[in-house]
Amino acid sequence: MDSLEDRLAQIDGRILDVAAGRGASLKYLVDKVGEFEQAVGVDFSEQNLNQAKNQFDDNRIIFLKMRAEELDFDDNQFDLVAIVNSLHHLDNPQKSLEEMHRVLKPGGLLLVSEMYNDNQSERQRSHVLLHHWWADVDRISGIPHYHTFPRQRIIDMIRNLNLAEIQIMEYEEDKDLSGDKETMSFLIDATDNYLSRIMGKPEHRSLYQTGLELKERLATTGISWAKGIAIWGEKTLTR
Ligand SMILES: C[S@@+](CC[C@H](N)C(=O)[O-])C[C@H]1O[C@@H](n2cnc3c(N)ncnc32)[C@H](O)[C@@H]1O
Repeated sequence: MDSLEDRLAQIDGRILDVAAGRGASLKYLVDKVGEFEQAVGVDFSEQNLNQAKNQFDDNRIIFLKMRAEELDFDDNQFDLVAIVNSLHHLDNPQKSLEEMHRVLKPGGLLLVSEMYNDNQSERQRSHVLLHHWWADVDRISGIPHYHTFPRQRIIDMIRNLNLAEIQIMEYEEDKDLSGDKETMSFLIDATDNYLSRIMGKPEHRSLYQTGLELKERLATTGISWAKGIAIWGEKTLTR
């Protein structure tokens, strides 16, 4: 059984990162693949794409504005198609996975990496709850962002694609982040920023209260990154 890194090292050709955000996941992928001819990051946020473009100085790496649910590529184009930390951001994750599968070459690798919401320690649950609250605030501002999925739901969505050689890697680091000043100030600043978006709006009073309780929870229960899975498999010649 190959590790994810071993499997990525075998990739050579064209890479697609869906919901690429500001480019961190595409940076990881281009560092890990053996070779690449072209790496494409797609996202529907122009603001994020502009930040992503500034991360790279390599004309093989391009970013395009596109919705995951309607990828503007012909069938069978890419050797690796990935989505990292973004499945729960999509309006229609299953349709997006079908699209990712469509543009993947037969024999190519589809990779999904995603945190999940069940079977977490109390500290990890702080991350899940905070993430869900961020998503709730995003949605009332018109930004698609949903609650994370149970682990099995992620696996079932991938299994619907009938990939071959499916492998799953768990990732977990239940380290208390309280002592990590940089991460804690990032989490607290982000939460304050979300609170400021709904402050003084009577219709969002209970959501505001939940945010205050979550900040309190960070101080009392603590927080660790939630567990997640990386799941990958190959597109078969026939489905
Ligand atoms: C958590 S961020 C990206 C993370 C990035 N993959 C990484 O690991 O660095 C989620 C991204 O999904 C994008 N997004 C949400 N819904 C989308 C959709 N339907 N199609 C394309 N991008 C979408 C958002 O604009 C955002 O940049």
